[in-house]
Amino acid sequence: MHSTSKVTPFFTLGYTALISIFLSKKMGCIVVALKHQLPKHNKDQNEKKHNTMKKIAILIMTVALSISALADEGMWIPMLLGRNEAAMQKAGMHISAKDIYDVNNACLKDAVLLFGSGCTGEFVSDEGLVLTNHHCGYSFIVRHSTVEHDYLTNGFWAMTRSQEIPCPGLSVTRLVRMEDVTAQVLEGVKSSTGESEREAIVAQNIKAISERAVAGTHYKAVIKPFYYGNQYFMYINEVFTDVRLVGAPPSNIGKFGGDTDNWMWPRHTGDFSMFRVYAGADNKPADYSPDNKPYRPLKSLEISLKGVEEGDFTFVFGYPGTTQRYVTHDQVDLAANMENPVRIDLRTIRLNHYNAAMAQSPALRLKYASRVANIANGWKKWQGETQGIERLHGVEQKREQEAAFRRWAAGKPQYSDVLNEMEANYSRLKNISLEWTYFNEAVMASDFMNRAYKLWNATSAAADEQTMDKLTEQLLDEGKKYYTDFDVHSPIDEAIFVETMMYMYKAGYAPYLLVKEMGPEAYLHKVYAKSALNDPKKYEKLLRTPASKRQAAIEKDPGVALLVKAYNRSYSQDKRATYTSARKNINSLMRDYIHGLMAMYPDSNFFPDANLTLRVTYGHVQGFKPKDAVYYTPYSTIEGIMEKEDPDIYDYRVEPRLKELYKKKDYGRYANKQGEMPVAFIATNHTTGGNSGSPVLNADGQLIGINFDRCWEGTMSDLLFDPNYCRNISLDIRYCLFIIDKYAGAGHLVQEMKIVE
Ligand code: ARG
Ligand code: GLU
Repeated sequence: MHSTSKVTPFFTLGYTALISIFLSKKMGCIVVALKHQLPKHNKDQNEKKHNTMKKIAILIMTVALSISALADEGMWIPMLLGRNEAAMQKAGMHISAKDIYDVNNACLKDAVLLFGSGCTGEFVSDEGLVLTNHHCGYSFIVRHSTVEHDYLTNGFWAMTRSQEIPCPGLSVTRLVRMEDVTAQVLEGVKSSTGESEREAIVAQNIKAISERAVAGTHYKAVIKPFYYGNQYFMYINEVFTDVRLVGAPPSNIGKFGGDTDNWMWPRHTGDFSMFRVYAGADNKPADYSPDNKPYRPLKSLEISLKGVEEGDFTFVFGYPGTTQRYVTHDQVDLAANMENPVRIDLRTIRLNHYNAAMAQSPALRLKYASRVANIANGWKKWQGETQGIERLHGVEQKREQEAAFRRWAAGKPQYSDVLNEMEANYSRLKNISLEWTYFNEAVMASDFMNRAYKLWNATSAAADEQTMDKLTEQLLDEGKKYYTDFDVHSPIDEAIFVETMMYMYKAGYAPYLLVKEMGPEAYLHKVYAKSALNDPKKYEKLLRTPASKRQAAIEKDPGVALLVKAYNRSYSQDKRATYTSARKNINSLMRDYIHGLMAMYPDSNFFPDANLTLRVTYGHVQGFKPKDAVYYTPYSTIEGIMEKEDPDIYDYRVEPRLKELYKKKDYGRYANKQGEMPVAFIATNHTTGGNSGSPVLNADGQLIGINFDRCWEGTMSDLLFDPNYCRNISLDIRYCLFIIDKYAGAGHLVQEMKIVE
């Protein structure tokens, strides 16, 4: 909000140029004024005038959004942060770009880690202690939980180093340095090179460059495209594989509010967990060994207890996964208007069944808990995303930008046809993409069809009878597991199978359900009843068919046969070929489009879409107005936990020990100036999935929070960022330390940290 020199006013020119020249920072206010005038419009006034007003309002809103979007939008490349330094300092930052990223000196980037393969973590002590989210450590906490030691429910705290639990399969990655390798990667690519040939050359170059870069070292190199392949960066990484679980709060702190509160503000989730990185005697990555020593990082973060207030500068340093900032209106339409509604409907069917089951017994709740968390996470995000796109008139907004580009591109052969071709390719691909969404969310919704797919996929790939036999043993083994984990012939799974398939049938994507003898619904029930996959004995018999006839027998099973029909219809050769070629074309057109936009607005600093590489995003602590007459203040406190408490609802139970501390206001040095215990805060940092666990830092580069979510009203920020609605949600570091120290009595962990009071 405070800085305006940051991003890409790339859709502020064109025929809106005149307006934009006169626009100032205050534009936001003008828009608000205009929007508020509209409803007051007298009914008697003629329609035409009203429509014109509306059009102007949308137009100005578009322009204003793009301008106010200058405030906080963007996920910046650490190596090039010098370009943002002035704006960041103007926004309130006290440190320099070099304090954040520097190849020659220890800097903040040395404290930031890719945690696993899709989260972020950070070093908070010189002995390798790492903080991340509870939901990022979740599967490891679950894995080490047993009925006797239920760390998920009760929490886990290693009181000594020897109690820290190794987590095979978990790695953390530290960026050593990065490098622009565009010229080397594109060596041999000419303007006349076709897309497939280009892909091959690029892949070959990437392989050679990365191998050369790390030869003789323990580093790993990754090269990724930026701006759809206009640029390439190489990342030299150090990967640590001995990572041990150190601490996790109980679920009713770490996941307080569960899926009901997920994506929502006000929020009261203590979403953190702690790990420790171990290394060999030389402080280099080493596979697990009891002899390994805590890793001594080049840099660990200082932690500030001062907290933040509305308007304070913050930045987030981490690994955002995917954004689609520059896509055209077709992609926005495809995601928000075509695919999301289908995904949401189909997931509603599944959630209704699982939630009903989970309410019946604790055993069923445990059984479906993590599955439901996954299904519900996307389900809820997409609803917010589609509403956000509608609110912003996202498709129209994109069309406006494209119209401006077309005018600029006219007469420039390199660009003049890009958007026409883009539209032509989208018209080939949109319906196929939608059909695949149906397949993934309907056919693959039931355990039954998932097992059928797995069986068919595995066995049809077996090259000879020997491989087939080996595979069969494996499948039988796995079968034992899921036949004990999940009820066979489960009424829940059968209902999900029938309802989701019927939804797809009614939409016209499953004509194969219309058989001669009976209606589609009866047919689905019959398939479910007849398939050997829903009966462990029949399943074993099927897999024990003599090897020479086994594949045929498998494909004759009614369940597998249906799956194969569905697959062959949705993923026919034809559709796959069309989709792949259209996607390739779109990728190369996007490369031209962005190239054109950069030429069109040469003074703008375009941020590259997120691609799970290390980025810096910055903004301010700030509340927002989610709807009429409601304003959200930017931080929550422990009071809210007590307000939400409900012993009858699993996700809103409060630990007696937490209540005790609350009653005594025993917050120690972790309370804020007002004596409150802060829990979470929101800010305008542009984040996305993957940023979970990211350090949230203050103007001095000290840790003040851990990013863990976004506000629901702003989840369209992967496609369109609106500073009025887009907020990241962070756990206040003071609540995290309070839980470790006061609640869990693990103060020895806080002692390791560098706390600044
Ligand atoms: N919405 C957050 C993210 O996208 C947190 C998800 C985990 N929490 C949950 N209640 N499902 O990853
Ligand atoms: N919870 C998300 C994650 O796991 C962050 C929320 C978002 O999508 O911004 O990365």
